[in-house]
Amino acid sequence: MAYQLTEEQRMIRAMVRDFARDVLLPTAAERDRSGEFPAENLKTMGELGLMGMNVPPEYNGAGVDTVSYSVALQEVAYACAATAVIMSVHNSVGCGPIYLFGSDYLKETFLKPLAAGEKLGSFALTEPGAGSDPAGQRTTAVRDGDSWVINGTKMFITSGKNSDLTVVTAYTDREKRHKGISAFVVEKGTPGFSVGKEEEKMGLRASDTVELIFEDCRVPAENLLGEEGDGFVIAMASLDGGRIGIASQSVGLSQACLDAAVSYAKERVQFNKPISSFQGIRWMIADMATQIEAARLLTFNAAAMRDRGENFTAAASMAKVFASETANKVAYQALQIHGGYGYMKEYPVERYYRDARVLTIYEGTSEIQRTVIANHVIGK
Ligand code: CAA
Repeated sequence: MAYQLTEEQRMIRAMVRDFARDVLLPTAAERDRSGEFPAENLKTMGELGLMGMNVPPEYNGAGVDTVSYSVALQEVAYACAATAVIMSVHNSVGCGPIYLFGSDYLKETFLKPLAAGEKLGSFALTEPGAGSDPAGQRTTAVRDGDSWVINGTKMFITSGKNSDLTVVTAYTDREKRHKGISAFVVEKGTPGFSVGKEEEKMGLRASDTVELIFEDCRVPAENLLGEEGDGFVIAMASLDGGRIGIASQSVGLSQACLDAAVSYAKERVQFNKPISSFQGIRWMIADMATQIEAARLLTFNAAAMRDRGENFTAAASMAKVFASETANKVAYQALQIHGGYGYMKEYPVERYYRDARVLTIYEGTSEIQRTVIANHVIGK
């Protein structure tokens, strides 16, 4: 690999690779079939320091850099892409907004158990009528004495059923458009907060995706993140980090596709030769490897920019769009190389192909990433 990892980053990669390949990989196909949430594995991942990776130790996090986080996510995604999205959402848009924008009280109360892996976090921005355009959301929060009263419905929320708390955005002043959106921490079990429909998905089946319903849900005033009206910027800034997470998940899954394709091509004999000796297959694999390397470098670049404190918004979008589209291409090619076997559940590429599909959709579609990049390059 061309990117020069530090000694610490290489150690983290080795540790997570061992865990992911020993523990997550052997059971990933069964989780895909059953849809069982990997609760026990997530507990172990908390103990390994994977559930608050960029949070400093004073709040129970591992306090490592974003490149290390990316490396760890790539390894988890290589073994189980469903577990990787739970880890990514928890770290980037669960812990992230509370660490970056939360008061001391919110960090003490909510960030500490999240970063220790004792509690799981989720992020509720999307609504039935507001996906790419989050300012179109309809959820409201009205101040009443010492509380905020939230009403509305969120949709497609990763880990919404299994998380212990969720960061929720809502309009506190609709007149002000995006400047009137605020963000709140809402705990599971708060009266008026319930889980609605659970989606039946094409891939990432061990990760739950649900509707969240708020009906006169009263949360304490101190659960407001940042200031009133900061919610849109909190969501955007958290998603910048989230997009590095999804890019990393895409790279890990892509590498799994490549390794599966190489291994199959070497053992599959047709016309008295392994198919890996045919130029058509060799060039396909060469292109897959090249695109994955480029995706990995873009992802590390965005992560390193974040670590240096630079504005990484466009870099994260470039990494996300390129890595997620690469994952879809290489999953397609890996399945093609497997021929008829690739279409059967007996081989993991069938799952990789389904798991890859959402990568160009969630945490901002490819079209939104190109909009962000164009705004950066051309201006609005
Ligand atoms: N960081 C900080 N601030 C930002 C920002 C960023 N990355 N992007 C925008 N802002 C600020 C702007 O500076 C601006 O602030 P001012 O008004 O003070 O100038 C404000 O936010 C509004 O910005 P825009 O005018 O650019 O906003 P817009 O309405 O045109 O939207 C967008 C821009 C890029 C299209 C944005 O709406 C977007 O990213 N949409 C996609 C949403 C998305 O990714 N949803 C995914 C759901 S979450 C999910 O999938 C998680 C999961 O469970 C897996």
